[in-house]
Amino acid sequence: MKTEPSLSSPPDLEWSPSSWQRKPAAQQPAYPDPEALQRALEKLSRLPPLVTSWEVEALKKQLAEAQRGERFLLQGGDCAESFEECESSIIANKLKILLQMSLVLVHGLKKPVVRVGRFAGQYAKPRSADMETQDGMSLWSYRGDIVNHTGFTEADRRPDPELLLRGYERAALTLNFIRSLVDGGFADLHHPEAWDLAFVRHSPEAEAYHRIAESIGESIRFMELVGGASMADLNRVDFYASHEGLLLAYEQAQTRRVPRRTGWYNLSTHLPWIGDRTRSLDGAHVEYFRGIANPIGVKVGPSMTPEELTALVKVLNPHGEPGRLTLIHRFGAKRIEKHLPPLIGAVRRAGQAVLWCCDPMHGNTETTRDGIKTRDFQNITSELEQAFDIHEAEGSRLGGVHFELTGDNVTECTGGARGLSAQDLKRDYRSLVDPRLNYEQALEMAMLIARRIQRKKTGGTHG
Ligand code: PEP
Ligand code: CO
Repeated sequence: MKTEPSLSSPPDLEWSPSSWQRKPAAQQPAYPDPEALQRALEKLSRLPPLVTSWEVEALKKQLAEAQRGERFLLQGGDCAESFEECESSIIANKLKILLQMSLVLVHGLKKPVVRVGRFAGQYAKPRSADMETQDGMSLWSYRGDIVNHTGFTEADRRPDPELLLRGYERAALTLNFIRSLVDGGFADLHHPEAWDLAFVRHSPEAEAYHRIAESIGESIRFMELVGGASMADLNRVDFYASHEGLLLAYEQAQTRRVPRRTGWYNLSTHLPWIGDRTRSLDGAHVEYFRGIANPIGVKVGPSMTPEELTALVKVLNPHGEPGRLTLIHRFGAKRIEKHLPPLIGAVRRAGQAVLWCCDPMHGNTETTRDGIKTRDFQNITSELEQAFDIHEAEGSRLGGVHFELTGDNVTECTGGARGLSAQDLKRDYRSLVDPRLNYEQALEMAMLIARRIQRKKTGGTHG
């Protein structure tokens, strides 16, 4: 029997990869065949890990540097990855746009960027309703490709445990391809032309981007001339994987001990995060996350109170380990001004060290008259600009950004330099859940951030 702990109860001291099962777990699918689920989980727990503890610790170190202001975090990718889109060009385009954005940021911020993809495992989605009704028929909501299918039939929507294995495999295929591209020199900073996207030349920001790429190339050549040797480190840049750690049974099955290290690692991804809907202090997600050694993220939305946040930070990072905890706030352009300052103040007064990151997507979702989910570029940039200003005014630092984006030329968010309208959205809307910035909008966003920071550095008010 599960007991409902009260809000004030201290966390149980005894943690294990399965201790979350004693707590109420929100947003979990109701698998109709528990034995089939157990069989799938057993298989999953015998399969090799997708990432290693070395990589996980290397990322934690980079996030600790970001926390100290020595780096900047760029996290981005699909709202929901689909099994169907586990395809070479789509994956490569996602890497390319993240690389290009990171170059623009490195150039503008004059500091290294930590690149984290929402990929290789971003298959499970929280939903606002358990059921969806169409023409009088009610079925389970679609919860991501790792749970059920988008089609609207009884069979499509039935949670299928075999999909946990298919998700693990897709994540492995994706990571394998990303690792090979990176190791094969795809991300070689000597050759930025290798990761130009075909449509970059049509982008309103194409010229500015090429100037940046050229200037970085020149700097590298200069350094090599001066140093007299090739800078091996510049031949590759690292990418890390992240996903919302929503399906706790899946996460548990990939939670392992590793030789010569203490603690337990979630080896399905480098950086798992807790979503805004599952971050309850007494819930199963917080219980699971508090015990793993990975760096972790928590989404922070408008319903978070300062007291709740400091209590959460204490549970998730009791020893104040640097790089351990990234708070990803997402309020919306109209609400950030009211909600963020008290949270920053409370965390500071509690003496808690975290990395602050802004997700300007999830608080700015709206529905058009035609019923299409979208986000406007202007609202996204407005929330982001305010986030920078508020952190600065509070004596804090915005150390990263979190976007839903794609390297393809979809039409899901309105606005941007090309001025996509609500009418344009129908042209190429592919997202299964939330609308993403397309390639041009994502590059423009990176330019905006870089320009804003440069402006601040030089003390100017224009540019
Ligand atoms: C998401 O990142 O896709 C998501 C569901 O976000 P949040 O938890 O912030 O609502
Ligand atoms: Co989303």
